[in-house]
Amino acid sequence: MNISPELPVHRPAVLELNRLAFKGDEESRLIKNLARDNSILASFVALDGGEVVGHILFSPLHLTVNGKRIDAVALAPMCVVPSRQKQGIGTLLVEHGIEAMKSAAHDAIIVLGHVDFYPRFGFRHDLARNLACAFNQYEAFMGLELRAGSLGGKPGTCTYARAFA
Ligand SMILES: CC(C)(COP(=O)(O)OP(=O)(O)OC[C@H]1O[C@@H](n2cnc3c(N)ncnc32)[C@H](O)[C@@H]1OP(=O)(O)O)[C@@H](O)C(=O)NCCC(=O)NCCS
Repeated sequence: MNISPELPVHRPAVLELNRLAFKGDEESRLIKNLARDNSILASFVALDGGEVVGHILFSPLHLTVNGKRIDAVALAPMCVVPSRQKQGIGTLLVEHGIEAMKSAAHDAIIVLGHVDFYPRFGFRHDLARNLACAFNQYEAFMGLELRAGSLGGKPGTCTYARAFA
């Protein structure tokens, strides 16, 4: 298993993987719209012998904390091909993604995702719940600080890239 930056040649398989894993077109359409808007910050694929079996994507967020802009990114979408789930591929993708975002000196990652999955990587709802947006009342809305204290559960605002609208 190899986690690599997504290349143009991977895109058709990435779109098909998202359709399969999410059982619909919403996420594949989101990826196309993010690409159209030049809003893909980073995208990684899990490759098994050249076959795309997992995918994770990061896009820019407009996030303020206590009235000040911080450099946060959104993690979405991410998925693993159904036949290969629960084998650790999702974990590898999230760990790789976190390290990449940390290396790029971003301050925080925001995710709207499974409450039984993301907390194991350090994502916490209490860090994000005071960031005003359509989702912040949900436990599934979680933040991870890449710079200590960047979120801190403080009040703020969070706006996703236009493609999410
Ligand atoms: C969520 C997903 C990415 C996890 O990938 P994976 O390769 O199966 O994950 P791993 O094998 O590394 O880890 C498996 C763990 O994730 C948990 N998990 C997987 N799917 C889950 C779900 N739908 N809800 C909650 N937890 C889930 C498993 O319970 C397992 O927990 P355990 O280690 O305590 O047994 C994958 O199941 C998937 O693609 N699901 C469909 C699309 C999706 O929901 N994407 C996430 C959107 S936020």
